[in-house]
Amino acid sequence: MTTPTIELKPSSNPLSDAEREAILVKPGFGRYFTDHMVTIKWTEGRGWHDAQLVPYAPLSIDPANMTLHYGQEIFEGLKAYRQPDGSVATFRPEANAERFRSSAHRLAMPELPVETFVAACDALVRQDAAWVPEHGGEESLYLRPFMIATEVGLGVRPANEYLFLVIASPAGAYFPGGVKPVSIWLSEDRVRAVPGGMGDAKTGGNYAASLLAQAEAATKGCDQVAYLDAVEHKWVEELGGMNLYFVYGDRIVTPALTGSLLAGITRDSLLKLARDLGHESEESRVSIDQWRDDSANGTLTEVFACGTAAVITPVGIVKSAGGEWTQGDGTPGPVTLKLRERLLDIQRGTAEDTHGWMHPL
Ligand code: PLP
Ligand code: COI
Repeated sequence: MTTPTIELKPSSNPLSDAEREAILVKPGFGRYFTDHMVTIKWTEGRGWHDAQLVPYAPLSIDPANMTLHYGQEIFEGLKAYRQPDGSVATFRPEANAERFRSSAHRLAMPELPVETFVAACDALVRQDAAWVPEHGGEESLYLRPFMIATEVGLGVRPANEYLFLVIASPAGAYFPGGVKPVSIWLSEDRVRAVPGGMGDAKTGGNYAASLLAQAEAATKGCDQVAYLDAVEHKWVEELGGMNLYFVYGDRIVTPALTGSLLAGITRDSLLKLARDLGHESEESRVSIDQWRDDSANGTLTEVFACGTAAVITPVGIVKSAGGEWTQGDGTPGPVTLKLRERLLDIQRGTAEDTHGWMHPL
């Protein structure tokens, strides 16, 4: 289908320049939202229609809305970065659009065409471009495209009406400590996703499934949970909202995609960037025994987490029921920092974008 034209209904009450600039000094993560949002409807038999860029505002939802009861919801996360010349570019929006389609398929929701997804993100960023933080720092504008069912009723079946939205939020570091290493709780009993389940779809249910383990990890003094596979409880999969990388000297390894972990776009980008920087990079299985033993014998030199929100965040301490260890010397390792800088430089437009990842607006 063709991209519906996005009709603009600008906000009559945007924040003042001074209010917006005060927020941009220290935006945190996901706390403030820009002046507008995009909405596009889908109706059975009619397809996508009524694409609009409207003032950011609460939705009015019927208590029997199907999403509230059965969880048909998917989302994405991508960022827009201020470039050195003052223009704005997003990072790999087509990859998010493709993953959004695949999540939609898994949840029996309608698939939004890639060009419509990208056009919706572009329209919002163009309209609210003043919200994209200054060039040079770590701040960016985080875009959150998502889709919910809007049909009203309690029958359990795919809904016949949906709403796609894009909202945007200025973002600083996801973790308050920035690049300070995070501590990880290795969850040997609670799992995030199962084979044949929804682990490779970006749907709210996966995050709901991770919250109890996350709360338990916090009681053990840990920032994040590393989930293992649901069958053998042995193979490392990912964190609740980030993929993992293991650094063996010059070789970096990330857990292979099994269907129960999310195919991160940062993960994919780093497989390629690491090769550009002269490292070997591979997807493989990594067991918890390997993680512990190779840390103890010093062959596993660094571990880091990666994702759009978290960028690249080093792992400092790992705790499990069987004991704990410090990763490397507990400080961010050189490979982690080198990859992080290169990725951010491409996104900020200060390193050559040899893979054609940036999408200028
Ligand atoms: N794994 C999960 C469960 C996530 O929520 C995310 C964040 O989007 C990632 C991995 C990293 O994916 P990406 O690099 O596409 O942001
Ligand atoms: C992202 O990185 O975009 C995510 O969706 C992760 C979430 C935990 C904020």
